[in-house]
Amino acid sequence: METTENSFFVVFLWIYFIKLQGITNKLPIMKITFLGHSSLSIETKDKTLLIDPFISGNELAKNIDINKLRADYILITHAHQDHILDVETIAKRTGATVISNFEIVTYFEGKGIKGHPMNHGGKWTFDFGTVHYTNAIHSSSFPDGSYGGQPGGFVIETSHRRIYISGDTALTYDMKLIPQVIGELDLAILPVGDNFTMGVDEAIIASKFLGCNKVLGVHFDTFGYIKIDHKEAFEKFAKVKKELILLEIGASIKL
Ligand code: NI
Ligand code: MN
Repeated sequence: METTENSFFVVFLWIYFIKLQGITNKLPIMKITFLGHSSLSIETKDKTLLIDPFISGNELAKNIDINKLRADYILITHAHQDHILDVETIAKRTGATVISNFEIVTYFEGKGIKGHPMNHGGKWTFDFGTVHYTNAIHSSSFPDGSYGGQPGGFVIETSHRRIYISGDTALTYDMKLIPQVIGELDLAILPVGDNFTMGVDEAIIASKFLGCNKVLGVHFDTFGYIKIDHKEAFEKFAKVKKELILLEIGASIKL
């Protein structure tokens, strides 16, 4: 009799645990704030990651004060000015560690900034989660023309969340490998501005390749070549039953 009661209790606990896990999986545990252009702040449980900070040079982002931004890590996809402009200022104030390709990390280490070098296909587990350095088709020189390594993107995995930041890139078949090799994505952060990167139509195909129906668009509207028609972009995504998010500068989403 007692054994039966015990086993009922174990089964009850087990079901309760599974339910609890389901709820935890759905709780927002990542806050992503758009800082203009391709710049993002990602707050995980107890760490803040900055992505490609180009803020002080962006007239549209004049309400963002780079001296107030938090950063434990700064992730840089490539060496172009519109992705690294504020790295030095922010890293020196916050003591943040730069995560990027070997050449970019070496460049910032030369300025006394801490860094963690990576290269394509590699992953590393940090105290906030695991970062995979992915392929991108683009270029990557520093503003002075010196070599900035090969451009890349990142998959960031924290507990229960996995997001992809493609960086500046063309549409590439390599994107198909990401869900296969790394796993299912909760969000894909893709450029949609065209001219220097893929545009809205290619981002829709990328989202198919990635098996991820939720896209946060970046790299649009900052300058003339990349101004987009928002209404048309939303309509194109809606037509194929995919979600496009374009945030106001300073606005956030929770995942
Ligand atoms: Ni670029
Ligand atoms: Mn760019």
